[in-house]
Amino acid sequence: MSAPAARLPAARPAPPREGGLMCVVGARPNFMKAAPLLAAFAEGPTPLPCSLVHTGQHYDAAMKEAFFRQLAIPEPDVDLGVGSGSHAWQTAEIMRRFEPVLAAQRPQLLIVVGDVNSTLACALVAAKLGVPVAHVEAGLRSFDRAMPEEINRVLTDQLSELLFVTEPSARENLLREGVAPWRIHFVGNVMIDTLRAHEARAVPAADTLARLAPRAVRRAAEHGYALLTLHRPSNVDRPEVLRGILEAVAVLARRLPVVFPVHPRTRAALARLGLEDDLAAAGVALTGPLGYLETLGLMREARLVLTDSGGMQEETTALGVPCLTLRESTERPVTLTHGTNTLVGTDPARIRAAAGQALSGARPAARMPELWDGQAARRIRAVLERWLRDRGALRRCAAGA
Ligand code: UD1
Repeated sequence: MSAPAARLPAARPAPPREGGLMCVVGARPNFMKAAPLLAAFAEGPTPLPCSLVHTGQHYDAAMKEAFFRQLAIPEPDVDLGVGSGSHAWQTAEIMRRFEPVLAAQRPQLLIVVGDVNSTLACALVAAKLGVPVAHVEAGLRSFDRAMPEEINRVLTDQLSELLFVTEPSARENLLREGVAPWRIHFVGNVMIDTLRAHEARAVPAADTLARLAPRAVRRAAEHGYALLTLHRPSNVDRPEVLRGILEAVAVLARRLPVVFPVHPRTRAALARLGLEDDLAAAGVALTGPLGYLETLGLMREARLVLTDSGGMQEETTALGVPCLTLRESTERPVTLTHGTNTLVGTDPARIRAAAGQALSGARPAARMPELWDGQAARRIRAVLERWLRDRGALRRCAAGA
């Protein structure tokens, strides 16, 4: 990432009040994780009040508003409006803007989700102010410290009082790192809560293709289609890696259309390398970033998904759709052992071979990972209620609405 891009609307001051919970979101994958938590906290007869802070790490309508609308996430109480920049700038700016908000509101507990810069920045502010932190999706490890997310995960977990894990490997990782067992709660996967809650409303793939990729419709009806997403800096910011992946994708596109919703980081890389026209000519249908319901519909009906996203490895496992992960490691090993995921890396020959195999073979026999049943957020609420009660804070929290 280059120099800090300015996007500096002033943060709306938080209503000064003590108690209650606070949840932070910042980037696209956070929205799918916070939505079921906020919904579970709002359930009666005694809702758990929780304010919502958006750091503004992701701000484009396609990266934010569509998700808030489709997932019925309430308007944030505070938008820090931070925007894009280098990792240090973005993390520091989130911390700088979040500190007065947290100090004014002093929630009983700060809930952070996932592994983006906003997750770590806000957890660190809370730890310094003595506000306990709960980390949802704790303990995942790729063991690749070159990934910015790995740094965010390790540090957030060390700062957290309550750690909610999605799969057994995460618990083992945390225990190995010295986290006390009583802090760790295996609750399932909130991302899958969102998938199950919205499956019935997913936009049919045919509608999305007709609207955004009309040239792919006829071939897709005949051969099916593959769905591609790419956004990891290790894939898109290194021209030789990006070219290699796309070379393999162009070969795949001879066989069936490849639908490619393009992340802003990736769009910039494609433009720099002048690759967009070549891809379109090869039969790759490029679109802008899509909403949650459009992506879910496309994922569910795809013959094959190729991705470097963490969330899509989990979602394809839950949907039973074959997934090729274009990375050398995954922090979500249960998707390999139980699910439909195959780790293929970024070597073009390997991608071509794995895609050929996935298209010609039978669908992988997947088992649903334990507790990926759409109830993770309710389990988290139950743990939080116990925790608040033990601290004598439940009544104060409920009164903080
Ligand atoms: C971030 C997360 C990554 C997550 C991904 C999901 C970190 C370290 N990375 O990566 O873990 O998988 O979000 O998308 O937190 N941009 C826009 N509009 C936006 C947001 C970003 O155009 O609304 C552009 C900017 O040029 C920015 C670039 O995308 O510089 C990257 O955005 P950033 O949030 O820094 O990282 P992501 O690559 O999106």
